[in-house]
Amino acid sequence: MTANFISSSAAPSASASALPGDLLPGRMPVHVAVIMDGNGRWAKQRGLPRIMGHRKGVDTLKKLLRCCRDWGIGALTAYAFSTENWGRPTHEVDFLMTLFERVLRQELKEMMAEDVRIQFVGNLAALPETLQREIDRAVTQTQANQGIRFSVATNYGGREEILQACRAIATQVQQGDLNPEDIDESLFSRHLYTADISDPDLLIRTSGEMRISNFLLWQLAYSEFYITDTLWPDFDTAEFHQAMKAFQKRDRRFGKISNSDSGD
Ligand code: FPP
Repeated sequence: MTANFISSSAAPSASASALPGDLLPGRMPVHVAVIMDGNGRWAKQRGLPRIMGHRKGVDTLKKLLRCCRDWGIGALTAYAFSTENWGRPTHEVDFLMTLFERVLRQELKEMMAEDVRIQFVGNLAALPETLQREIDRAVTQTQANQGIRFSVATNYGGREEILQACRAIATQVQQGDLNPEDIDESLFSRHLYTADISDPDLLIRTSGEMRISNFLLWQLAYSEFYITDTLWPDFDTAEFHQAMKAFQKRDRRFGKISNSDSGD
């Protein structure tokens, strides 16, 4: 496991008043990851252009971030734009880049007030320069915040992330700075974009698709999955509550057997 800022053994204490009574504070996930799928379909169902779905999707994400914070969840990672999403129509890609930029600019004050620490994971150098500047500003300004860790996967691809880690490690070996025998899971994890965040305990995917779409391929090794038919713009606190209830019922064995089956 990675040496993490956020320990995966226990969630930060949830505010007792905020957490619904049927959720156990000691069994909350530390890190939740979300694949925000279904924005386009949500818009189409209403006869709206696809971009309206993305716009509404931002509101859903804001509400979820606040809910995670209120319920004592330490980290939220959202898949905002994949390395494959460049293949969408230019106007949609341009809209998304501008949307990310605008949201970052508008929400920075709020993130400071709510003690959110934002970071971006992905190949950021390929993003428009104006967006890169907003990202730098938001990351720098919020880096000392102690509240929820909010990661936005932007121009992110799990395979690309693994390849860039391999290249960096191979270079160290080539230069004689690293022995191949010393390459273990911990060292490898430290070369990923997510180096200082614990692996997600729970992955939520909306809109019913049963795939991980190149998201956090290494990090999701032992995450629990919650897949719902709800389209992302409609994913509300009630649905997140259901996801938490489902998560708390899971028996996480990490490849071992459960205590009740051990015969002890
Ligand atoms: C997938 O739905 C959604 C996206 C590719 C974009 C998600 C981005 C946001 C919700 C904005 C987040 C903003 C910030 C600042 C982090 P889809 O378009 O694939 O939906 P479809 O499958 O119905 O077509």
